[in-house]
Amino acid sequence: MSDTAPVTTRTHLIGLLLGAEEDWPQAFEQLLALVGPITSDDGVTHELTSERLTIEPFDLRQPVRTELVIDRLAHWYYHPREWLKKAALMNDTYLLNSPFTFQSMEKHSAYCALMRLGLKVPDTWLVPYKNPVDNVRWAYTSAKYNRPFDLKTIANRLGYPLYMKPFDGGGWRGVSRINDEHDLVRAYDDSGEMLMHLQSTVDYEHFARALSIGPETMVMDFRPEQPMHNRYAVSHGFLSPSAGHQVAAISRIVNAMFGWEFNSAEMLVTGDDVYPIDYANACPDVAVTSLHYYFPWAIKALVRWSAYCLVTGRRPPLDLTMRRYFDIADRDDLSEAAKLDAYLALADEYFETEAYWAWCEHHLPHLDRAVLEWVQSEAFHHLLNSTVVTTYPAHEHDVFLAHFEGLIRLWVADEKQRLGIE
Ligand SMILES: Nc1ncnc2c1ncn2[C@@H]1O[C@H](COP(=O)(O)OP(=O)(O)O)[C@@H](O)[C@H]1O
Ligand SMILES: [Mg+2]
Repeated sequence: MSDTAPVTTRTHLIGLLLGAEEDWPQAFEQLLALVGPITSDDGVTHELTSERLTIEPFDLRQPVRTELVIDRLAHWYYHPREWLKKAALMNDTYLLNSPFTFQSMEKHSAYCALMRLGLKVPDTWLVPYKNPVDNVRWAYTSAKYNRPFDLKTIANRLGYPLYMKPFDGGGWRGVSRINDEHDLVRAYDDSGEMLMHLQSTVDYEHFARALSIGPETMVMDFRPEQPMHNRYAVSHGFLSPSAGHQVAAISRIVNAMFGWEFNSAEMLVTGDDVYPIDYANACPDVAVTSLHYYFPWAIKALVRWSAYCLVTGRRPPLDLTMRRYFDIADRDDLSEAAKLDAYLALADEYFETEAYWAWCEHHLPHLDRAVLEWVQSEAFHHLLNSTVVTTYPAHEHDVFLAHFEGLIRLWVADEKQRLGIE
């Protein structure tokens, strides 16, 4: 007989690596508390807790306590990024997102991969740096190997207007719309040490922003020309059924291919045609003041996916399986639609989509109602109010609070209807 009692309770610690945000972390912490203990089929009771991580020197062999980390820093702050890599490699810590592929395969690689899959990425060129790179070998290399090129010829091939934007992208930094040769020369001169793409413009009817968290996807009607609080319209079914299917599929396919599990994808849509333009966002916007109506879904999805990964012991998928996608892409016996469905099947295999939803139904049947109550509680009101106070000037507090409260009331009404509650 063994003298060690069987493990009956396990506590899983989730780490939050945060920057300036207060809204969604508070929401996450409060919703995580609503999950309650989960008893898995083997009789073990799982408890989930979270902690905000701090940044400090670390011994590379130091044990890591967190089993899962939601990271909002690694795309710009290298110390925590390297800690995340250590945690993934030495401790199997589950990461949303993988710093490895976000560092090595940014927007440019994502363009290439989706072109390879046969998707409608707009025509895009990469041009050499405007200013020399800071390296003693530059002069020799440049004189011998850098071929002179005519920027205007490339622009003419793409046609005006076109977009010039950094190959790695993010937050509209360095993005410009180029209407003519004058703009072209000025934007290239200004690009300095940024490496730039030139991309043809898509004339679109809808800008679809798909936020995917694990196997969950929300397709939102995004209006980039609007001020922040009005960018996400609450509209369901704004895309044709075919475009809606493609947008949701592409978002999950990208994530599964690159191992990104909390990422937003921007696609420009005309009729049934979907043009992906930006889908490597390591730190997607989930602010309550921009997502409003969609905020409860987003935080619930983060909590649900984290709980699923930890309780089922899902292993962080460190290796990529891009070859499987390319093998489908290279077949000539499949239509575009059949290929998309085949990629999506791989993505859903990666995310264990079917098992995930069955698990949520079995282990978190109470969560939808608990979140609905929480959104109507004083705690949520306080969170919204304090976010508005820190986001907008004093004379605008009342108007913005009323604006967001209206949108949240709309969500509450729709959610009650969805859940069949009077
Ligand atoms: N090819 C394009 N056609 C039309 N609009 C574009 C195109 N590329 C970028 N834009 C516009 O520029 C914005 C910023 O470009 P994006 O590629 O999303 O850069 P970032 O990674 O900085 O968000 C987009 O949200 C869109 O409004
Ligand atoms: Mg973008």
